[in-house]
Amino acid sequence: EQIQKGNYDHYMQKEIHEQPESLTTTMRGRLIHGGSKVKGVLLGGLKDHLRTIRRSRRILFIGCGTSYHAGLATRALVEELSGVPVTMELASDLLDRRGPVYREDTAIFVSQSGETADTLEALEYAKSCGALCVGVTNTVGSAIARGTHCGVHINAGCEIGVASTKAYTSQIAAMTMMALALGEDTLSSCSRREAIIDDLINLPDKVREVLKLDNDMKELAKELMEEQSLLVFGRGYNYATALEGALKVKEVALMHSEGILAGEMKHGPLALVDENLPIIVVATRDATCIKQQSVIQQLQARKGRLIVMCTKGDANLMCPNGSYRFIEVPQLQDCLQPIINIVPFQLLAYHLTVLRGFNVDQPRNLAKSVTIS
Ligand code: G6P
Repeated sequence: EQIQKGNYDHYMQKEIHEQPESLTTTMRGRLIHGGSKVKGVLLGGLKDHLRTIRRSRRILFIGCGTSYHAGLATRALVEELSGVPVTMELASDLLDRRGPVYREDTAIFVSQSGETADTLEALEYAKSCGALCVGVTNTVGSAIARGTHCGVHINAGCEIGVASTKAYTSQIAAMTMMALALGEDTLSSCSRREAIIDDLINLPDKVREVLKLDNDMKELAKELMEEQSLLVFGRGYNYATALEGALKVKEVALMHSEGILAGEMKHGPLALVDENLPIIVVATRDATCIKQQSVIQQLQARKGRLIVMCTKGDANLMCPNGSYRFIEVPQLQDCLQPIINIVPFQLLAYHLTVLRGFNVDQPRNLAKSVTIS
């Protein structure tokens, strides 16, 4: 086992640090750039179905846990580049409601293991409704890979830690490529798509850069280890970061943690704010960061104990009155920023877990793959 972990103490730690490589594998052979060729993506498992997906009346992203969050992180880009509305479905909730699914829908099933019972049952349900079913999985030959009409393998490599880390970032990268493929017919989005492809190429290096925050996150973990609770505010592309960051802390460090859409702050969460409760605000540069600036001001006015995640060099701009702590991260195209922004949360959750003395790779009561519903 130690051989498999290499120089790391835990699988989760190893999997966090191998993300530059796992992302490279996810993209290998799929990006067309270089030379005189028009920039684009090649997803063999989808190419015969792109027209049908573009013409669907709606796309549904269906998954559980981290895989659901990966769908949420790419929702806006898929809508932007395909023009098709995307609805988010937690597999169990879709099944509980028997929500309407139509023949003209494309249902995209996101699952690391490809074996999660609820997601698999939702797949059977969507198939029976006549929808085109697409799989996004990490496991070749899994039930979801076999049961869908077409799909994309994320090729992140085997993930052992129960808390999903590298699969999450590879899911976002794979679904970003899917969005690019869906948009490839649209002339007006050409420069946007090229800019995203350029940043996909930069992505492994930027992840390497953000992994250097390891020590800073360990220090932050030391400061937070005795806390009862942690809130995470995000919006836009980084609403997913807030939910996934909070999930990491909750599932491995066994600390209550809640991801909150910053736009909902005034509708309840603001009542919790005082000088004790730690709050991480994700406020990296994108179309929503002016709004996040105002959220920060409102939290400061209530003496909130803020930790601000912002783009490198933006600390004073985003938070002129200072904050308890800053987490400064490198910048990429807005739609890829969730891949960068989740890394400090993964590191924080990891260090919190070690410091609090809990089992990192096998958190109590949880399973890597939930195969019964
Ligand atoms: C379990 C795991 C999570 C995972 C979720 C969905 O709860 O502990 O890490 O996100 O299942 O699993 P899947 O394999 O479908 O992505």
